[in-house]
Amino acid sequence: MKVGIDGLAFYTSHYTLDLEILAKVRQIDPNKFYSGLGQHKMAVPPPGEDVVTMGANAALLALQNIDKSSVEMVLFATESGVDQSKAAGIYLHHLLALPTRCRVIELKQACYSATIALQLGLSFIRQHPNKKVLLVASDIARYGLNTPGESSQGCGAVAMVLSANPRILSLDLEYGIMTENVMDFWRPNYSDAALVDGKYSSKLYLTMLEKCWLQYKEQSNRSLGEFSFICYHTPVPKLVEKAHHQLFKIEEQSITEDHKFNLNLTLEYSRIIGNSYTASLYVCLASLLDLAQQNLVNSRIGFYSYGSGCVAEFFSGVIEKDYRTHLNTEFHQHLLQNRSSLSYEEYQHFYEYAYPSDGKLHEIPKYRTGQFRLAAIENHKRIYESL
Ligand code: CAA
Repeated sequence: MKVGIDGLAFYTSHYTLDLEILAKVRQIDPNKFYSGLGQHKMAVPPPGEDVVTMGANAALLALQNIDKSSVEMVLFATESGVDQSKAAGIYLHHLLALPTRCRVIELKQACYSATIALQLGLSFIRQHPNKKVLLVASDIARYGLNTPGESSQGCGAVAMVLSANPRILSLDLEYGIMTENVMDFWRPNYSDAALVDGKYSSKLYLTMLEKCWLQYKEQSNRSLGEFSFICYHTPVPKLVEKAHHQLFKIEEQSITEDHKFNLNLTLEYSRIIGNSYTASLYVCLASLLDLAQQNLVNSRIGFYSYGSGCVAEFFSGVIEKDYRTHLNTEFHQHLLQNRSSLSYEEYQHFYEYAYPSDGKLHEIPKYRTGQFRLAAIENHKRIYESL
């Protein structure tokens, strides 16, 4: 029985900061961002947009034309959770009016958590082929103002409906997996921004890719040539380009212009959204499926997932025959083309906006969002609304 992705949609903030503006204020050559990191813009969440609202907006779309009564599990992957106890997915479950006979849980392991959610969700589907799992990966990448990581911020959510006989992508069984206890990127409970050793984390990302790929290759007996495309977790697009070159080097193959073109299809959305942590690998899949002009049916796609700390995995899947009719390309492109550009001062204002913690009633100022927004906080409780 095939299992995999039956519905796919992504959502990001309606606001962006062009990195040229950041470069000017920080007195950096903008080419460092544009060409040195391969990053053009980053999505910036306004007050009222959080991992719940982004996830719910993506999920609303992914669930279109799906019988919601068959959704028996919601897996919410994030490292930007809104509560230390309650799963963010429960708010989303309510906003989307999902069935009460449903398991809801939040998963965390840096940028890797959506991948373990995918593997766990598919194991459930193999046991219960008539059911569906809603997987939501939603994150806000946040470093300090004026730190080396600042230009690699961003935000976004991807929602996937997992099922038997999926209409978009079926997953292969083989995988290469690595866990090592390293301190390359982390966020203590008392900090609202990540701490990172950027160069070390980039090195680990590449080391783990090699280890996971060699394991996967041995398990699956597949060669690099069998992959039409590879999607990578994308902290910054330049690191992905380096990773792709490294993979070809390991296999003693040279990288062609076609290979570079194909990789770029997976990166286009990330170049203008920025890092969306655990969602970013799947933003690359959405970018590829939306933008590839050629017919992708039966193409094998490789996936490299890396979560600092660290857990990394290489796995693969094959595109299904009716994939095109089940995409949300129009929505994605409309959203990306109609975002508002922020000035530096507006970006700083959004960055510094702090949700009140005094327990009183606070209404959150209104900005452009999707259908769902965080409207208020009262008695330390988050109050979401559907517009
Ligand atoms: N024109 C063109 N290129 C230029 C340039 C210019 N004027 N000035 C500099 N560059 C190039 C540099 O030569 C360099 O290229 P190479 O990497 O090929 O040498 C590139 O721009 C970046 O410049 P720096 O090396 O000076 O980089 P930096 O100090 O700004 O740090 C970073 C870059 C490490 C990615 C930093 O943005 C960072 O710490 N980001 C957050 C952590 C991160 O993303 N880590 C990646 C792996 S961890 C992970 O995957 C989990 C996750 O999501 C966080």
